[in-house]
Amino acid sequence: MKEVNILGIESSCDETAAAVIQDGRIIRSNIVSTQIEIHKKFGGVVPEVASRNHVVDINRVVEEAIQVWGRPICEIDGIAVTYGPGLAGALLVGLSTAKALSFALNKPLIGVNHIEGHIAANYLAFAELKPPFISLIVSGGHTHIVEVLGYNEFEILGKTKDDAAGEAYDKVARAIGLGYPGGPLVDKLAERGRNVIDFPKAFYKDDNYDFSFSGLKSAVLNHINSAKMKGESVVAEDIACSFQETVVDILLNKALKAVKDRGYTSLVLSGGVSANSRLRRKMEEDCEREGITCYYPPLSLCTDNAAMIAAAGYYHLIEGYTSDLSLSARPNLKIGQR
Ligand code: KG4
Ligand code: ZN
Repeated sequence: MKEVNILGIESSCDETAAAVIQDGRIIRSNIVSTQIEIHKKFGGVVPEVASRNHVVDINRVVEEAIQVWGRPICEIDGIAVTYGPGLAGALLVGLSTAKALSFALNKPLIGVNHIEGHIAANYLAFAELKPPFISLIVSGGHTHIVEVLGYNEFEILGKTKDDAAGEAYDKVARAIGLGYPGGPLVDKLAERGRNVIDFPKAFYKDDNYDFSFSGLKSAVLNHINSAKMKGESVVAEDIACSFQETVVDILLNKALKAVKDRGYTSLVLSGGVSANSRLRRKMEEDCEREGITCYYPPLSLCTDNAAMIAAAGYYHLIEGYTSDLSLSARPNLKIGQR
């Protein structure tokens, strides 16, 4: 059978990325240009600054992805692009580039949901992985438990009612004086801390698959403020460790419940927070104890990239889900929406 090569383009937040993926599974090129250093001084992503830098980077990144692939761009079989969720101005940069290429090359345009892309990152790492399965998706903007019924069929079982897990990591990092993005820094600091602070676990025992992290974030801030008022010193390492243990326990408790309730035998982790060392380790331990097979992407595919968008795009294309040039940015696009 003829091979299918998809060019993926991603610009939903602060990474400008392009990649070429063969048959939805093989990485032929994967270029990511991150703006982390630019946004660091603001303590978070500034949308207008992100859009402008995508404009500066996008052509170079796409050219590099094609160059590394090593074939002429006209041999691409389709162009997959993130059209939501994400920052409107940032999404438009990738989208305009993808539409221009689709028109000029006369190749299908494939709109991809960023969150569905995160799930597809696992298809690049695990050749044997096929739906159905349960996926725990944890990123800076999203925390979902999803039943992945097919490559393009999803049922949301639960989600966060307020802050996403990654957002909680970033806010706690700021409160204890770490930089941006906070997740990796809290992860690192936690290695030297003790799990000695009893933080709240919202919805922990509830019979649903939902999360809430804003109370936990407030509890961390209250802990710091009350220690300061009493003139006591705060041990940032212990806060990081206790916070992390709480988040990881909350996430895995509900994810494993979903796997067991729905009669599955595998759990697939995805999204930026899947890079978290403690989450990866505890997931392996818990899954092994319960007889569940667990999957998580290699670190290079955890945070935003275009390889995952091209992988998801491949499965859209072969099942007939292509877009036309009227495709526009959908900042609040929900998983499974077309
Ligand atoms: O998926 P992603 O790159 O962007 C979104 O789609 O949101 O996720 C970024 C999030 C940030 O909140 C970042 O702090 C978090 O993932 N993150 C981590 C780690 N690495 C990245 N959180 C905890 N531990 C990590 N090692
Ligand atoms: Zn993401």
